[in-house]
Amino acid sequence: MPKRSPLKNKRLLVGVTGSVAAYKAVELVRRLKDEEADVRVMMTSASLNFITPLSLELASGAAKKPLTGLWEEPLAHVNLASWAELFIIAPATANTLGKLANGIADDLISAFFLAWHGGTIIAPAMNPGMYTHKTFGKNLEFLRSLGVTEIEPETGALACGVEGVGRMAGIERIMDAARSAFTPKDLEGQSVLVTAGPTREPLDPVRFISNRSSGKMGFALARAAASRGAAVTLVTGPTALTPPPVEKLIRVETTSEMKDSVLKEAPSSRILIMAAAPSDFTPEVSSARKIVKSDTYDLRLKATHDILLEVSRLNRRPFTVGFAAETGRLFERAQEKLEKKDLDMIIFNDVTKAGAGFDCDTNQVSIFGRDDRREDVPVMEKEDLAHLILDRILALAVRDKDKETF
Ligand SMILES: Cc1cc2nc3c(=O)[nH]c(=O)nc-3n(C[C@H](O)[C@H](O)[C@H](O)COP(=O)(O)O)c2cc1C
Repeated sequence: MPKRSPLKNKRLLVGVTGSVAAYKAVELVRRLKDEEADVRVMMTSASLNFITPLSLELASGAAKKPLTGLWEEPLAHVNLASWAELFIIAPATANTLGKLANGIADDLISAFFLAWHGGTIIAPAMNPGMYTHKTFGKNLEFLRSLGVTEIEPETGALACGVEGVGRMAGIERIMDAARSAFTPKDLEGQSVLVTAGPTREPLDPVRFISNRSSGKMGFALARAAASRGAAVTLVTGPTALTPPPVEKLIRVETTSEMKDSVLKEAPSSRILIMAAAPSDFTPEVSSARKIVKSDTYDLRLKATHDILLEVSRLNRRPFTVGFAAETGRLFERAQEKLEKKDLDMIIFNDVTKAGAGFDCDTNQVSIFGRDDRREDVPVMEKEDLAHLILDRILALAVRDKDKETF
């Protein structure tokens, strides 16, 4: 959990409506609470068929119980409109969204919505027939035109036994949208290209060489940049992580594929952050058939393409940030890499240190800029570090812009 969560002390009102997905609201409320938001909950009477107010009360930790009706706490619909800083409806039924789009105010959530003029996030959840119905589409379009943010549902098997679009968006996507609502958009208008994760170099159709990179640092950077308004392209090797809400997600397997994607996207990007750990070696020969088991097997490797070096040769090169994962405090190597690959910034981390490097949620880095500047950053959550790195990039970009080198 990021320590610097933009949700800290924010007053969030969560509406829960009568969908099978109502139980997922418990997890959402708990996650908001984990990030120290002040959460209050409103429930429709239909939602009470799926979930009890007690579950949400316990999850929210609020001294006040969830409100379940318009008459329960008179004027709550008006008072909450001046209390809340963000309104999230998850899950949002077709019925409730229909009311919101048409000015109906016959229950707490819909009456509140009319009194409320602030930011609203909706996470629809329903049967695909309902979601794709023209009437619902018209309502949704009108709500979007009011500035309501829809976290689109996902496609897959639904509780009603059919396959299709309508499953409520994952909690992580709703959390991203909530955090983004409180994040200054200081990267608005910037195109940011981020690479993440390991690559896989095939030995044969079933085996590959890879490394311990989890993709967490790159995903955190992409997520942070997107929440600050950048148009983000994320090029990622295989990871088990949920992708952040980026404009373009490109999944690759090998270093060669990563290189092709980066070289294609880099010229139209303003900032490139290479947080991936592409394999430095690939088998000299990759067998088309599975290699038969034997006592020994000689494997010869050859170097892969050096993506950063190739980027440095581009005519139109973005502001380029590299990562150097080393074992030992080899600052000289980081500095060498900065110069050799003509980088604007390099983030050095000693992957043998506790709380740093691969497959953990924290990292400890030193940031090297040009002109020998070095900043030693203490151990912190990768999500927080991502924002700190973006702060530094922004500061350098502004500074260099004055010198017209960026
Ligand atoms: C078992 C069951 C599951 C339902 N699931 C959904 C759903 O996922 N999405 C939806 O829009 N409506 C769903 N409905 C219909 C709503 O509960 C119904 O339209 C209700 O009036 C919604 O009220 P509310 O919007 O005030 O919560 C479901 C109904 C039942 C009986």
